[in-house]
Amino acid sequence: MSAELSAAAEEADSLRKTLNDHSYRYYVSDAPSIPDSEYDRLFCRLQEIEKNFPSLLVQESPTQRVGDIPLSHFEEVKHEVPMLSLGNAFDLEELGEFEKSIQKQLGDESPVSFTCEPKLDGLAVSLLYENGKLVRAATRGDGHTGENITSNVRTIFSVPLQLMGDNIPQKLEVRGEVILPLKGFAQLNQKQEEKGVKVFANPRNAAAGSLRQLDPRIAAERPLDIYCYAIGWMEGEPLPLTHGEVLAYLKSLGLKVNPEAAQVKGADAVAEYCRNMAEKRAKLAYEIDGVVVKVDSLALQEELGFVTRAPRWAIAYKFPAEEALTQLLGVDFQVGRTGAITPVARLKPVSVGGVTVSNATLHNLDEIKRLDVRINDFVVVCRAGDVIPKVQRVMMEQRPDNAEQIRHPEHCPVCKSELEYIEGEVIVRCDAGLACQAQLKEAIKHFVSRRALDIEGMGSKLVDQLVDEGLVTNVAELYQLQVEQLAKLERMGPKSAQNVKDALDKSKQSTLQRFLYGLGIREVGDATALSLARNFASLEKIQAADEEQLMAVEDIGPIVAQHIHHFFQQEENLKVIHALLDAGLQWEAVAVAEQASESQVAGKTFVLTGTLSRFTRQEAKAKLQEQGAKVSGSVSKKTDYLVAGEEAGSKLSKAQALGVIVIDEQQLEGLLA
Ligand code: IVH
Repeated sequence: MSAELSAAAEEADSLRKTLNDHSYRYYVSDAPSIPDSEYDRLFCRLQEIEKNFPSLLVQESPTQRVGDIPLSHFEEVKHEVPMLSLGNAFDLEELGEFEKSIQKQLGDESPVSFTCEPKLDGLAVSLLYENGKLVRAATRGDGHTGENITSNVRTIFSVPLQLMGDNIPQKLEVRGEVILPLKGFAQLNQKQEEKGVKVFANPRNAAAGSLRQLDPRIAAERPLDIYCYAIGWMEGEPLPLTHGEVLAYLKSLGLKVNPEAAQVKGADAVAEYCRNMAEKRAKLAYEIDGVVVKVDSLALQEELGFVTRAPRWAIAYKFPAEEALTQLLGVDFQVGRTGAITPVARLKPVSVGGVTVSNATLHNLDEIKRLDVRINDFVVVCRAGDVIPKVQRVMMEQRPDNAEQIRHPEHCPVCKSELEYIEGEVIVRCDAGLACQAQLKEAIKHFVSRRALDIEGMGSKLVDQLVDEGLVTNVAELYQLQVEQLAKLERMGPKSAQNVKDALDKSKQSTLQRFLYGLGIREVGDATALSLARNFASLEKIQAADEEQLMAVEDIGPIVAQHIHHFFQQEENLKVIHALLDAGLQWEAVAVAEQASESQVAGKTFVLTGTLSRFTRQEAKAKLQEQGAKVSGSVSKKTDYLVAGEEAGSKLSKAQALGVIVIDEQQLEGLLA
């Protein structure tokens, strides 16, 4: 090495150390020690050296955070140790039960030592360090397989590209949550608004959306942050003895850990931590949705082990649904697929747990009566997780003088046809059927949806345009659409138009169940559609069946039978069905019901809970039903099996209490095989 090069190498090395150190102080410890201008000066100097001596450039240099080459896709990453999920506790009493179950399993009644930490509302990631260098970052995915998002995670300043300290392990897979702090979230949404593009509903979506960008320059513009909370696995250094020590060790390596984490003893102390954290929540710079409680001793963690996908040694206490007070500005009436008119409250925008809410459901006209809500009233709105916000109650004592009765609409708000109010019926419907554009749009959206004909790329906005432009007046006409027509629509181009056309062609090869479900017959969900398909085996026979024959099918009662029969009596519906068949829609012969009884699951009752990773819940349900099993929504003594996916909650505890057999997805696959 020339003298010049070695001097440059030495300077570059020292600059990197200094810059990393300052970065750590700024982004991890939140205690900057030099002005930004000085940091920038050192940074430029390092860039200059690396430019003059490209052989000195290394991946972990602070100049190399943001790559400039977008990826074509994210590669898959298999997690060597699965990334687990957590069971939930929805009230503080459940924390006592949690401790008791641990004591029982350990055969030791003494209070358990726990570490409590905020449950961050972000995205779980895994960071892999080899000899102190960040070599890979991945999403959690389904817990077994995630996506390689290294180029995006490298842009997060609080993620060290190089670990610090004297005890750097040869290998370390560390886990944590990537979040977008509230300030960054507000700034990002302001920018989105200025650009006229979609704003994010909450910081978690924004963080997830940022990490899913193929171009790392986009993630780099978003002030993402991380808190590390676990070691997946480690080589070359001894594992600490407690979770508290794990956090301290991670911190000593320069990783960011949450300063709110605390060790406490016994369930009462845990509950107190949770209450305090609920109070502190609004003051935190980021969103949290609860507290994660972990048994502190790693040896006890190991002894306690896992159930399905969640550890027995940890639980997530979820804060109760959030509420906020605001004013009702008006009520809009929306028309659903079956013509049902739903009142939607227009609210003075209010932040409910960090999400701005300006609409909330009022369910139906009876609900308006029940709440006795009037326009201009002050109302309490609540939202729990991703659930649609709802109007919870009215502040009667604050009713203003200008409070106005909500008038029931006399006409359909979309097609203007007259509405008929039937005595004793909660739901008011527009009877215009597919002549009402609102119902037509919803019918098409239902037809193309995942569980029906599953036409990819046929999103809600596209369907709205197709109907508004008069290009489609029934579902069969979807198949007559030309690529050129589609390409002319907003947000479409030749390529996406061709994709939609291809998806439409692909959907022609379907199943009788999907077809029946897609028709949108009232009260015919996918389970009923399957029963119909399995019992009659052909569309013709279903069409020809009278109500009595329909009622012979398990799960079909008089009302559903009437709806089905009525549907197939309508000239208009038969025309559309013919047109669909003419367009080439077809399906394979249906496996007849009798065959199903040979399956191990036939006649058994299953309940599915939690998030499944190998199939969607609908798929699992369909597979079970195909083989003659019953799938129920709630656990009871009659339940034969509970299939518990990730984040299984109260159903799992109930099943355990009732002695119901609990299986995981793999076991389910075995039963279905
Ligand atoms: S520990 C086995 N700690 O919650 C332990 N998770 O419901 C697994 N989360 O996927 C995780 N804050 O994304 C842990 N302080 C924290 C957390 C946390 C948020 C998330 C994480 C996980 C989910 C489980």
